[in-house]
Amino acid sequence: MEINSELIEKTLAQAGIHGPSSNELHLYEDRLTRFFTREYQRYTDNPVSLHELGISTDAGPIMEDTESLMDRHYDEDLNFFKSFLDTAYHAYSMAYYGDTPFSIRKSNTTLEEAQKAKFDLIAERAQIEGNERVFNIGCGFGSLETYLLERYPNLEIVGITPSKVQVAYLKQRMKDTHDPLGSGRFTLIEGAFDQLPLNTLGEKPYNLVISVAVFEQVRNMSAILRRIAGLLTSKGKTFHHFITSRNVIPQFLDPTRTRIGTYFPGGRVWPHDEFARHTEHFDLVGHWFVNGLNYWRTLDEWHQRFWDKIPFLYDNAFDTGDIAHWNNYFSLCKAVFAPLDGNFYGNSHYLFRARN
Ligand SMILES: C[S@@+](CC[C@H](N)C(=O)[O-])C[C@H]1O[C@@H](n2cnc3c(N)ncnc32)[C@H](O)[C@@H]1O
Repeated sequence: MEINSELIEKTLAQAGIHGPSSNELHLYEDRLTRFFTREYQRYTDNPVSLHELGISTDAGPIMEDTESLMDRHYDEDLNFFKSFLDTAYHAYSMAYYGDTPFSIRKSNTTLEEAQKAKFDLIAERAQIEGNERVFNIGCGFGSLETYLLERYPNLEIVGITPSKVQVAYLKQRMKDTHDPLGSGRFTLIEGAFDQLPLNTLGEKPYNLVISVAVFEQVRNMSAILRRIAGLLTSKGKTFHHFITSRNVIPQFLDPTRTRIGTYFPGGRVWPHDEFARHTEHFDLVGHWFVNGLNYWRTLDEWHQRFWDKIPFLYDNAFDTGDIAHWNNYFSLCKAVFAPLDGNFYGNSHYLFRARN
């Protein structure tokens, strides 16, 4: 039976669920954005430190609640992720449209091009030469792997993820010898990076340990960097890309207190400077703040693609409750990145070099 998209939209509207182009959702997202703007302004005018809040990044488990995170987020039906991610890389992380609010808003690049631009920027900042052995923490659907293996014929990469949905997807692609993931230069490890014994993470040391959009899950920065140091060659490097805020926002450091925490159990948003001070095992080569409007635009594009695929999602086991759940997710995430022209809440990049 053909599903009538107009009828679906009408039914959803009657249930109070509106799409990203509707006036109703614009008003709702504007209200949410104003709320977060006030919060960010509050912590800009009256900053608080992690120390004052009694929060340490040197203690406790490396990551928390990975099982709930998989259950509530990453092991959602594959069709959901397919409905909105870019078709070139299936990257589940911010795409890069530019470095200023003006250039991001004016950019006319597609999501696919903007994802490639993100990986170009990461490859440049991580100083990738092309013959490295790379370990990628939280490989998702193999987006970074696809980019690196296509671009560098001598590079090898190992990716790890605890997500059953991602593992099944990646294993399927690894069977295809025309796919970069089937080139024999990609190895997949199933499991959680913080849990598996170090000696199961690869036989030879790595030149680069990297992560994209994973360290929002890290609670103990010292411990994860110690683990990473144990995987690297003596001149090895480590590069990380994750969401940060300019100043501390106390509620974003307790995932049990926010609606975002219901989508990302165990997730936290750290202030930009915090990770950079962790030089116990490494020298800091550089760190950068990436304007949050890049994520706002990425999410807006994802939201639109998701909404356009609703008939397909209904065909693939989604019900009205699922649509409402994920529709709210996109609105909420857009509203946290939009305030203050993306200058307060965005992504950070960090490059460290092993200290001999
Ligand atoms: C937002 S996705 C990013 C995926 C990918 N890096 C990208 O940019 O497309 C986060 C990834 O981290 C993985 N992840 C979460 N907790 C993890 C853990 N404890 N160990 C390894 N990977 C983890 C998730 O399964 C998912 O693949």
